[in-house]
Amino acid sequence: MKTIRVNLKNSCHEILIGRGLLSVAGRFLLKKGYAGKAALITNNIVDRLYGDKIARSLEESGFTVTRMIIQDGEQQKSLDSAIHLYKELQKIHADRKTLILAVGGGVIGDLAGFVAATYLRGLPLIHIPTTLLAQFDSSIGGKVAVHLGQVKNVIGTFYNPDMVISDIDTFYSLPAGIVIDGLSEIIKHAVIRDGSFFNYLASNINKIKSLDKEVMEQIVYTSAEIKLSIVKKDEHDYGLRNILNLGHTLGHAVETASDFKVSHGSAVAIGMMGAAKISNRMNLFSGSDLERLEDLLKRAGLPVTLPDLNKDRIMEAIHYDKKIAKGTIRFILPVKIGKVIISDSVPREIIDQVLANWN
Ligand SMILES: NC(=O)c1ccc[n+]([C@@H]2O[C@H](COP(=O)([O-])OP(=O)(O)OC[C@H]3O[C@@H](n4cnc5c(N)ncnc54)[C@H](O)[C@@H]3O)[C@@H](O)[C@H]2O)c1
Ligand SMILES: [Zn+2]
Repeated sequence: MKTIRVNLKNSCHEILIGRGLLSVAGRFLLKKGYAGKAALITNNIVDRLYGDKIARSLEESGFTVTRMIIQDGEQQKSLDSAIHLYKELQKIHADRKTLILAVGGGVIGDLAGFVAATYLRGLPLIHIPTTLLAQFDSSIGGKVAVHLGQVKNVIGTFYNPDMVISDIDTFYSLPAGIVIDGLSEIIKHAVIRDGSFFNYLASNINKIKSLDKEVMEQIVYTSAEIKLSIVKKDEHDYGLRNILNLGHTLGHAVETASDFKVSHGSAVAIGMMGAAKISNRMNLFSGSDLERLEDLLKRAGLPVTLPDLNKDRIMEAIHYDKKIAKGTIRFILPVKIGKVIISDSVPREIIDQVLANWN
């Protein structure tokens, strides 16, 4: 097991990464001084897979566990779901010591985290992330939110957990597409911050795809450390944290223009290729690094070509993207593998040229 000790301005907590952790979660929590009631918030899919195991582990350590189950799906990140959970918490007479266990992917983490942040002005939150993305990304950095209608993540706050328990054994039940989607954002972290991690990913890509335990533990750990190093310098997302959006300017536009038929991870891979091509055209990023990125994304099973979508719709979506800063479009541009810059001055012609000459 690997342990990360997180020291932020408003939160000190541990992230535990390892195997077989779900069945000993109760003991960890007891050791940290927690006791009493716990609300296990999850969805129907994750509950079927891991609900019993986690509930049993806590009950063996003396906790009283109530399971609160939401239906699966991104649309569940809503105020309606939050209200449903507030009412469930009211039913069990939750008090300020009642633990919220957020068990699932990023959707459950964001929703249960939002509920934990707001109910009684804050209940202790334990993230038990069960997707690759949730383990190195969404359970770290304290962003919790729900959507409002079509607008994503607009109702939210910053609320850090008291502990993160990341059991990599949960990856074995994940659909392959969800793992590859998560891998896209791991590659993103390497491109942003860590050239040697990029090399590690390239050397171990086959082991990653077969979910080799040692390698999975290592990549969750390193990727979590990368995210933390950025979050630490910009906890409330006023500047540096923006670099985590590498691949997301064009990525979001591709998702939108495809009516969300292209998955988020695939869109981010395409978006990273786009940002790299733009940077290359601006003479900021070398052709050989561009090839290395393309090669790793391909070997990971991610798309590197622009899908057959209406380019005007892509441009329109880029313009509507929230990263528009005073009329300019914000791109995160790689300048080498392991380093990026924030740019508000990518000329429109360069974007057009990249889209027109992609394949
Ligand atoms: N808070 C943050 O900083 C942050 C960062 C990145 C993403 N997010 C959010 O995270 C969400 C995406 O998270 P995600 O990719 O984990 O998606 P998700 O939570 O929808 O999970 C993906 C799918 O996998 C299923 N699942 C979860 N664990 C499983 C397991 N172990 N075995 C089998 N199936 C399992 C889920 O039920 C779901 O169908 C988005 O809402 C996004 O906005 C938040
Ligand atoms: Zn993303």
